[in-house]
Amino acid sequence: MTEAAPKKEQRRKFQAIRGTRDLLPPDTALWNHVEETAHAVFTTFGFGEIRPPVFEATELFARAVGGDTDIVGKEMYTFEDHDFGELSSLASTITYRNPDIQNSHSVSSYVEQIHAFLGAYSEGLAQNKIPRTPDNERALENLRMHATRIPILAGDWTGGIEHAKTRLELQISGVREALRVIQLGDVLSLRPEATASVCRAYIEHNMQQLPQPQKLYYIGPMFRRERPQKGRYRQFYQVGAEVLENVKPDATRDAAKELTKDAITDAEVIQMVMTFFDKLKLPGVQLEINSIGHAADNCRRGYVALLKSELEKVKDKLGADSQRRIETNPFRVLDSKLEHEQPIIATLPKIADHLCDDCKTQYAAVKRELELRGVFYTENWRLVRGLDYYMRTTFEITAQGLGSQNAVCGGGRYDGLVELLGGPPTKGIGFAIGEDRLILSLQEAKDAALAAGKQPPFVYIAWMGANAYAAAVHAAKDLRAAGVRVELPPVEQKFGKALERASKLGAQYALILGDNEVAEGTWTLKTLADGAQQKFTEPHLLDFLKKL
Ligand code: HAM
Repeated sequence: MTEAAPKKEQRRKFQAIRGTRDLLPPDTALWNHVEETAHAVFTTFGFGEIRPPVFEATELFARAVGGDTDIVGKEMYTFEDHDFGELSSLASTITYRNPDIQNSHSVSSYVEQIHAFLGAYSEGLAQNKIPRTPDNERALENLRMHATRIPILAGDWTGGIEHAKTRLELQISGVREALRVIQLGDVLSLRPEATASVCRAYIEHNMQQLPQPQKLYYIGPMFRRERPQKGRYRQFYQVGAEVLENVKPDATRDAAKELTKDAITDAEVIQMVMTFFDKLKLPGVQLEINSIGHAADNCRRGYVALLKSELEKVKDKLGADSQRRIETNPFRVLDSKLEHEQPIIATLPKIADHLCDDCKTQYAAVKRELELRGVFYTENWRLVRGLDYYMRTTFEITAQGLGSQNAVCGGGRYDGLVELLGGPPTKGIGFAIGEDRLILSLQEAKDAALAAGKQPPFVYIAWMGANAYAAAVHAAKDLRAAGVRVELPPVEQKFGKALERASKLGAQYALILGDNEVAEGTWTLKTLADGAQQKFTEPHLLDFLKKL
C-alpha cells in the first residue's frame, strides 16, 4: 500500500485512442501469417521490400494525393516539428490577448511580448533554425510594423476613443494573422498512404539509375482521421506494392509497343494481388477494373467538362457533398454511395465512350492480358478512386464478410506522379491492400483463418524431480531448436495438475518427465485430446514432432 491515496488524475485509466487498437495474440499469429505470405508471394514476382518512415512533409501528400481530396483536406494528422516550445506558447499568449487601450500598462506589456517574440524569432531565422520561407519573412516584417504602430496609435485619441479602439483592433488582428502564418518548423504529417513516400524515395535515391522497373513493396501502419467503424480505423495497416519505371527518351517512338508494355505491367501487378489472396484463401474475392483516361490527353479533360455540365443540370437533386464536388472534382460524384443519387448517376455519360485512342488501346490490352492470366474481372465505369494521382487503369478488389467497408484493395496507374514530385519522367502502377480488412474477412471465413493461422506443435513439459528438471531444460532447448513450441513450467507440479494446466494453455501434447523416464532414457508423450501415450527416445521424439 502506498502512503497517500493516488490523486484522481493518477487513477485515470488509459485506453487506446479512438480509431486505434491493440492487436493481440492469438490474432497476431494470423497477421504474421498474412505478412509472411506477402513476403513470399511478392518475392516470387521480383519485388523487394521498402520501409519508408511513417511521417513525411505534409506538402508531399498534398501534392501527390491532391489538396482537394478528403484524405489531405480532412483526414491527416499534421504537426509542426520544431524546438521552439516557449516561442510557440508565447505566440498563443499574444494571440489570445486583448489589450485595453485605456490601460497603458496593458498595451505596453502586450507590445513588450511582441518584442520578446520578435527577438527570439529573428534569432531563430538568422541561425536557420526556423525556416526562411516567404511567409515567415513577411510575417516578421508585419509584426515589426505592428509593434511600432500600436504604442503610437494607443496614445493618439484625436478622433475619439471609439475611433482609436477600431484602429487598435485592426493592428491586433494584423498581429494575430502574422502569428497564424508563422511556421516555427517543418509541417509534417503521419502518412495517410505510402505511394507518395515510395515516389519520394525513388527520387531521393536516384533509383532511375538502377535496373528498371523498380518493383517495391511495403507493409506498415497508415493514419487517417476517418470516422471509425468496422473495417475503418484511424491507424490501419496496408500491404502495398509499386512498380516505377523511368521513361526512356525514345519511348514515344513506338507508342503502341509502350501501351502494350504498360498493360502487361498492370496485369502482372493485378495478378500478383490475386495470387496473394488466393494463397490466403480469401473468400468472395471480386476484382473491378476501369480506365479513367489520361489527364494530359484531351480524353479526361473533355469527359470531366461534359460530366460537369451534365451534373449542373441535375444539381438540385444531389446531396451537399456531390454539389460541392461538381466544383472541386466532378469525377468523385461517381463515387457517391447515397441511395437517392444512384438513379441519377446511372444516366451520366460514361468515360469508356470518351477515351482517346491511346487510352482505349491500353485498356483493351489490360483486359486481354488479364484474360491471358486467367484473372477474372468485372468492369465498373464508376471506379474513379479517391486520390488525384491516377490515370488510365484503376482497380479495386472486394472480399466477403466486410459490410459496407468491403474494399480490401485499391490501386491503379499513376504515370507522371514522380515528375510532379520533382523527379524525372516516370511511369507508375501499384496497389494497397487494407490489411485490417483482409484479416477481418479471413476471420469471418473461419476455415481460411484456421488454415492461415496454423501454429507449430505445442508441447507442455510436465517434469517432477531434480534430475527430471535438468532433463526438461535440455529437452525444451532441443525441441525449441526444432521449431516446436514448448512451455516449461518454472515449478514442479504433480502430474495431474500439470496436465490440467497443459490443457488450459491449449497444448496438444504433454511430455512427461519423471525420474523413472530420465533413468530409462525414454520420454513419454501424451496426446491431450485422446489421452494416448507413446514412448520415444529423444531423436525419435524430435522426428515425430517435426513431421507434424
Ligand atoms: P486507398 O484506396 O486509399 O489507396 O487505400 C487502399 C486500401 O486501404 C483500401 O482499399 C482499404 O482496404 C484500406 N483502407 C483505407 N483506409 C482505411 C481505413 N481508414 N481503415 C482501414 N482500412 C483502410 C491507397 O492508399 C493508394 N496508395 C493505393 C495505391 C498504391 N495506388 C497505387 N499504388
